[in-house]
Amino acid sequence: MAESGKTEVNDCRVIELPKIHNPAGNITALNNLVDLPFNVERVYYLYDVPSGESRGGHAHKELQQLIVAASGSFEVILDDGREKKTVTLNWPNYGLLVVPGIWRELVNFSSGTICLVLASLRYSESDYIRDYNRFTEFKNI
Ligand code: TYD
Repeated sequence: MAESGKTEVNDCRVIELPKIHNPAGNITALNNLVDLPFNVERVYYLYDVPSGESRGGHAHKELQQLIVAASGSFEVILDDGREKKTVTLNWPNYGLLVVPGIWRELVNFSSGTICLVLASLRYSESDYIRDYNRFTEFKNI
């Protein structure tokens, strides 16, 4: 992977996750380094997002994430400072891999959405870039 100051939106990608299909209900199981390209150090989920709210609005210096609409749907706007791309997540067996150094915003949450995030590192505020001007400096723009 490119150093996080140089990553681009096209380094992020949607991957299909395994689905164990059963008429009585499906299962998706994710194994470190098998079904996703990093070791999971942290799992968190966003829920009870009021209609019209947006989340994110930051970038990470080192953190890799897999973002999944475990239930419901939302859009992720990816931005590398030069190019933007919007990805819709609306199936629990698809996930968006977000590489470090990408500004992201999560918008248009449907009612009852659960946004599941698998993360490569524990929470650390020092890994965040929360100011867009600082982000463009970080990307040498
Ligand atoms: P933040 O990542 O900014 O939320 P979002 O991107 O969804 O808008 O986190 C919001 C707050 O929650 C922030 O003050 C830190 C806290 N937080 C933790 O303590 N641990 C975590 O793992 C996460 C993701 C957030």
